[in-house]
Amino acid sequence: MPKSITIHAPDDWHLHLRDGDVLKGLVAHTAERFKRAIVMPNLVPPITSVEMAAEYLDRILAVVPDNSDFEPLMTLYLTDNTTAQTVFNAHQSCFVKAFKLYPAGATTNSDAGVSDIKKCYPAIAEMQKLGVPLLIHGEITDADIDIFEREQVFIERVLKPLCEDFPELKIVFEHITTSFAVDFVNSTSHPIAATITAHHLLMNRNHMLVGGIRPHYYCLPVLKHQQHQQALIKAATSGSEKFFLGTDSAPHAQNKKETACGCAGMYTSHAAIELYAEAFERADKLENLEAFSSLNGAKFYGLPVNSEKLTLVRESWDVPEYYQFGTNEADNTSSHRLIPLFAGEQINWKINGN
Ligand code: DOR
Ligand code: ZN
Repeated sequence: MPKSITIHAPDDWHLHLRDGDVLKGLVAHTAERFKRAIVMPNLVPPITSVEMAAEYLDRILAVVPDNSDFEPLMTLYLTDNTTAQTVFNAHQSCFVKAFKLYPAGATTNSDAGVSDIKKCYPAIAEMQKLGVPLLIHGEITDADIDIFEREQVFIERVLKPLCEDFPELKIVFEHITTSFAVDFVNSTSHPIAATITAHHLLMNRNHMLVGGIRPHYYCLPVLKHQQHQQALIKAATSGSEKFFLGTDSAPHAQNKKETACGCAGMYTSHAAIELYAEAFERADKLENLEAFSSLNGAKFYGLPVNSEKLTLVRESWDVPEYYQFGTNEADNTSSHRLIPLFAGEQINWKINGN
């Protein structure tokens, strides 16, 4: 096993940074590891216009650490009412890189999401025309569909027809969780790629449910059977250009996770690239970490590969029990604590210099 690995600086192609006083700490963790990140628009209210994205971008840039040249790449939230003109404006802006489709009710802050994809066809046609990628949270939300089958049914009922109707539309199938998604992405000639999270590579639903229910392992799409985990590991570590890194790191305060009805989302930005290194090492495929983390996403988005390098060393460190969530350091209660993935446990890879 190598003791260190040096790769082109990686990018996170799916990230939740939130807003307000929690922004600074979250940006710091990501900027330490990644050169760029695709920033999700599911704020309250959602980021639906170029003007809102410009203001949000300013708030993020204001808290980027001085020693970092981290670049946020913005997205707009697709709604039933998004117009072709908004897509045109986004494309013109240069800093908005994509639109995000949340089926209404699928996850955190998705109430304003899409109720019927046909309502978005004029906007999607414009995306296809201009080459603007559509990022998709691929889950059916119908009450009669089992939560573990939401992704599989989405492929049949929504994604396949969408690909047929828009054969040139660039699509990122976000945070895939099943072999059905892997097989679909691998088998189609459509310009579609998929992001895979570190937590779906490292865990399956047993980790969440055996021996007690672990709210910090609850996210959407929910962790699946270990056979699906194996399919994701194979896809991510294969070197295929169709798969790339997207953490879906999704912070919520401790009190919003450890409650009778907990929020969905795992926080992984404190150790994101280190966790991917762990997953690739377990698969004995560290040689393909760079393609997944630093090359494939940039190619899909038509952006240059980062010239900077990042070195990871195989050295254990202890994950803190919690991070301060927000800037009010006097308040140490659970509403101001962020529990990171593997809190209190050891991680085997470390960024050189940390
Ligand atoms: O677990 C999740 N959390 N999945 C999502 O799709 C959204 C995210 C969030 O924003 O908290
Ligand atoms: Zn997400």
